[in-house]
Amino acid sequence: MDRIRLRGGRPLRGSIPIGGAKNAALPLMAAALLSEGPLVLTNAPALDDTRTMAGLLAQHGLSVDHDTNARTMTLGGTATNLVAPYDLVRKMRASVLVLGPLLARYREAKVSLPGGCAIGTRPVDLHLKGLEEMGAKIDLDSGYMNATAPEGLRGAKIYFTQVSVGATENLLMAATLADGITELVNAAREPEIDDLAHCLIAMGARIEGIGTDRLRIEGVKALHGATHPIVPDRIEAGTFACAAGITGGEVLLEGAKLEHLGTVARVLREAGVEVDESPKGVIVKRLSGLRGVDVMTEPFPGFATDMQAQFMALMAVAEGASMITETIFENRFMHVPEMNRMGARINVHGSSAIVRGVSRLSGAPVMATDLRASVSLILAGLAAGGETIVNRVYHLDRGYERLEAKLAAVGADIERLPG
Ligand code: EPZ
Repeated sequence: MDRIRLRGGRPLRGSIPIGGAKNAALPLMAAALLSEGPLVLTNAPALDDTRTMAGLLAQHGLSVDHDTNARTMTLGGTATNLVAPYDLVRKMRASVLVLGPLLARYREAKVSLPGGCAIGTRPVDLHLKGLEEMGAKIDLDSGYMNATAPEGLRGAKIYFTQVSVGATENLLMAATLADGITELVNAAREPEIDDLAHCLIAMGARIEGIGTDRLRIEGVKALHGATHPIVPDRIEAGTFACAAGITGGEVLLEGAKLEHLGTVARVLREAGVEVDESPKGVIVKRLSGLRGVDVMTEPFPGFATDMQAQFMALMAVAEGASMITETIFENRFMHVPEMNRMGARINVHGSSAIVRGVSRLSGAPVMATDLRASVSLILAGLAAGGETIVNRVYHLDRGYERLEAKLAAVGADIERLPG
């Protein structure tokens, strides 16, 4: 297994290209099941998760061609296999996003239940309840969801009892081919959902309310191919903003959109990190000390849960204390014991962590446990004295493209040690 070795203490200076968003690319790829296509996705990131999704779609029978030099993915064809197998779904929970499209277009799907993951149990009850309200019959048997809709899906008014990105995406896609009108109430409002909606409209879907928590979809008989640019990755941008903040540098996040950072930009400013819009993206710099700031993770436009671990690394070396409360997932503090091994002073009490800033962290061998926890350890290593070795970086490769190359290009002393 690959490891990453870094030595901290260098301010980052220069520009970092921000790639297409992982959490937009995955539902957009699943949307290819809704039509013959071709669906052409530009600004497509090359990640382990997109490769997993490409493999899943290929075993369904779609053609998937990813020109990584041109950063363009072309998907199309007819599904000849309606089963999403356990060995693929367990690797990546977002595989469940094929359920809505397969049901909507083929009126049948057999998708493995994703099971839990490191950060929580992550049920899919909201996905299933919504699809049943649209007329699907779903039996759970031997770890699979056996779904059928012999007469096709029909429009329904669906109230989400909890904001769910994936459930919003699955039902949004399903509704585009349902018979009649579907309303999704208390829908998630992440920028990746707006991006999916815009792509579906380009494919011929009829969707209103984009950007709000109430989406209205009028089903159509069929969708067609389209070309769609994937939105820049706001979590990658936020991650590198924390890297600039923790090292006291100045970095241009090329292609990033300030408004997609949501509350993260405000909180970074409160912590003493300057975040400004520029014609080429977002400029982040830190000229003075870092201050402890309290945050609570919330659905967009609140503070993103996918930024919680990265922000905690920043707070670990801030002046004063910070209380970080995780409201979205039940087990998303696994980076804490590893950061404490680097000299951080963090105590977890239930869903909150109290971080008492220290003047300097010390490098150490640490273990990555999930995607965002692993990148938070890289950030801590950038600020630590001495050498840090991050093990199990396969977690990182799921969601960050060429991370160490991008950081080295702006001055970080970082390299990958092949496993
Ligand atoms: C998406 O996951 C993202 N993944 C996650 O990013 C992100 O953390 C999450 O949204 C929240 O923003 C992708 O987009 C591929 P949810 P998703 O459904 O859709 C509960 C990363 O690091 N819930 O919004 O699975 C669930 O347990 C990943 O890039 C139900 O109870 O998240 C959680 O507590 C990690 N029943 C909360 O809702 C359901 O049917 C939010 O989950 C669905 C969700």
